[in-house]
Amino acid sequence: MFATVAIVGAGPAGLLLARMLHNAGIDSIVLEHRDRAYVEHRQRAGMLEQGTVDALRACGAAERLDREGLVHHGIELRFDHQSHHLDFPALTGGRSVMIYAQTEIVKDLVALQLAEGGPLLFEAEAIAIEDDMLTFVRDGVEEKLGFDFVVGCDGFHGISRAAIPDARVYERDYPYSWLGILADVPPSCEELIYAHSDRGFALHSMRSPTVSRLYLQVPNDTDPDDWPDDRIWDELDARFAVDADWKLMRGPITQKAVTPMRSFVTEPMRHGRLFLAGDAAHIVPPTGAKGLNLAIADVVTLAKALQHWFTTGSPDLLNTYSDTCLRRVWRAEHFSYFMTTLLHRAPDQTPFDTRLQLSQLHRIADSRHAAAELAENYAGLP
Ligand code: APR
Ligand code: PHB
Repeated sequence: MFATVAIVGAGPAGLLLARMLHNAGIDSIVLEHRDRAYVEHRQRAGMLEQGTVDALRACGAAERLDREGLVHHGIELRFDHQSHHLDFPALTGGRSVMIYAQTEIVKDLVALQLAEGGPLLFEAEAIAIEDDMLTFVRDGVEEKLGFDFVVGCDGFHGISRAAIPDARVYERDYPYSWLGILADVPPSCEELIYAHSDRGFALHSMRSPTVSRLYLQVPNDTDPDDWPDDRIWDELDARFAVDADWKLMRGPITQKAVTPMRSFVTEPMRHGRLFLAGDAAHIVPPTGAKGLNLAIADVVTLAKALQHWFTTGSPDLLNTYSDTCLRRVWRAEHFSYFMTTLLHRAPDQTPFDTRLQLSQLHRIADSRHAAAELAENYAGLP
């Protein structure tokens, strides 16, 4: 078997890259370890920056997104029992974000790929990447795939990263996790609410006009079974408490899971014919919802570089790929770290630390400059 570009992983990064290459007339094969239902139902953040929406539109993958996506013009910060609205268009020169679940992006891209793209092989696990050959296992049988280029879009637990020799790794774990729920209840807010409280962080997000997504900061190694539904709603009520006429609507909880928080970057993102994109190369804590947007920005940069190589023979953009991506990645790493440490309560938090957090939150509420800095990073730098 041979593909001009071999793509490992059918998450948003691998699927969008395959789509963009297909549109540019470059053939590829996508190998995915899991089955289709698994990749289409994995819950992840669904906040799309303008650049992400533009990329999906440009490759003809935004038809449903444009019908069902919810445009958000800001977020709400809640602290000291007060709420503060950040108006993104006013603070960023007109930018907004879109809420559209990552599961739906994956479903849309899988459907397009199967209808008109190159091969997308589910339950095909890549096990080794060599110079110009990839080995994978399907139905218990080892197969070989030759390539001109191979792209590791295989997420944090994939194998591609290990094929970059002498990589430098930068990482940080956080002393708390998120307990995330999906509930069949209309969102109790029009915008996402990021809440700082003495009891820890809480986030109110949404998936659709009838499905809410909410998160609670919990200790690492929390067992979701220790959190019956009533305990979750009571804790959310306590953390979102505000001196205003506002009520959190409750409904049946349909999913419950605990996710750890991590910052991670590997450098460089390229070795010879191997390129890394998305979670394979970097992880951010979810507080700024940057993971998906970074993954998409990587593959947009890479698709352009590959297209440039195949049309002009110039390796210039391939050579600058890693540096171009890492510049954006580190900005998002800083922002995600900032949002995380601003809003969460560390296990060893002192009253001094809390005062600093509140001072910074008040600064964002009171100063247009401080608010604009947050809004620009959140809505996405061009
Ligand atoms: N062979 C084939 N596929 C593999 C292998 C392997 N050895 N290892 C992992 N995979 C697959 C996984 O099963 C997964 O479907 O690679 C895919 C990686 O997809 P994602 O984890 O979704 O990563 P990415 O496409 O980079 O998307 C990043 O995911 O975690 C979020 O916040 C992050 O939203 C961002 C997005
Ligand atoms: C989500 O909708 O799951 C979500 C939104 C914003 C975040 C994190 C997660 O910062």
